[in-house]
Amino acid sequence: MKILALNSSPRADGVSKTAILLDAMVKGMREGGADVEMIPLRKKSVKNCIGCYTCWTKIPGTCVHNDDMTRELFPKWLESDIVVYATPLYHYTVNARMKAFIERTLPAWEPFLNRVDGRTHHPIRQKPPKAVVLSVAGFPESSVFSFLSSYVNMLFGKGLLAEIYRPASEIIALPVFQDKAKGILTAAAQGGLELVQSMKISKQTIDQITAPIVEDFDAFANMANSFWNTCIKEGLTPAEFQKKFG
Ligand SMILES: Cc1cc2nc3c(=O)[nH]c(=O)nc-3n(C[C@H](O)[C@H](O)[C@H](O)COP(=O)(O)O)c2cc1C
Repeated sequence: MKILALNSSPRADGVSKTAILLDAMVKGMREGGADVEMIPLRKKSVKNCIGCYTCWTKIPGTCVHNDDMTRELFPKWLESDIVVYATPLYHYTVNARMKAFIERTLPAWEPFLNRVDGRTHHPIRQKPPKAVVLSVAGFPESSVFSFLSSYVNMLFGKGLLAEIYRPASEIIALPVFQDKAKGILTAAAQGGLELVQSMKISKQTIDQITAPIVEDFDAFANMANSFWNTCIKEGLTPAEFQKKFG
């Protein structure tokens, strides 16, 4: 099984919470025997779709841009059995880099309008891979992912195998939450293994990955606010804060 694991966080591996969770999941997928390639999209050039429809008319199936998406990522995407779309939650949805990637998959469809069960679709030119969506958010409520979930269900339909949403993700690297983080990452690896073995992730495993790290959301907000106040007072970004205070 060929799996392409895309991470659209602009942050470096080790700092990116998307990467921390994705790494664990990929470990499980590899244990299950899958051939997994991880690609941090921040290192690739993926220009925005310009809506010219050249890929639908003059050169069917090929984008007019000559960048990493056309040369490398789109062919790899087409060859994959499963693609993991791992993204930080930005303004309640995928971030701009992931959205640019998704828009650039347009050459895989034909321009025509097909009506199926009362809904309009474009016919498929080249079969898209199955999808898994993984996202991390700063806020502690699971409900922050409801817009993203409805978007990816509309987008991928029956091709969507699993959704993994981790709220309050910024604190998983804090030493005080180490035990809980360990449980979450073990469950993420288990999720990767299950996916390769059965093309789905059990509810029990999803529940373990998404289990609340903090129970008291007011206390969580107070802790976050005192962190931000210190950053502002000291004139430090969060990364600089971490370097200085550990
Ligand atoms: C531009 C921007 C928009 C964000 N929007 C949301 C949001 O809508 N809801 C939320 O809970 N967190 C939001 N966050 C917080 C990120 O989802 C969170 O910091 C996440 O852990 C980042 O993942 P990364 O470390 O992989 O980049 C936002 C962060 C940025 C920079």
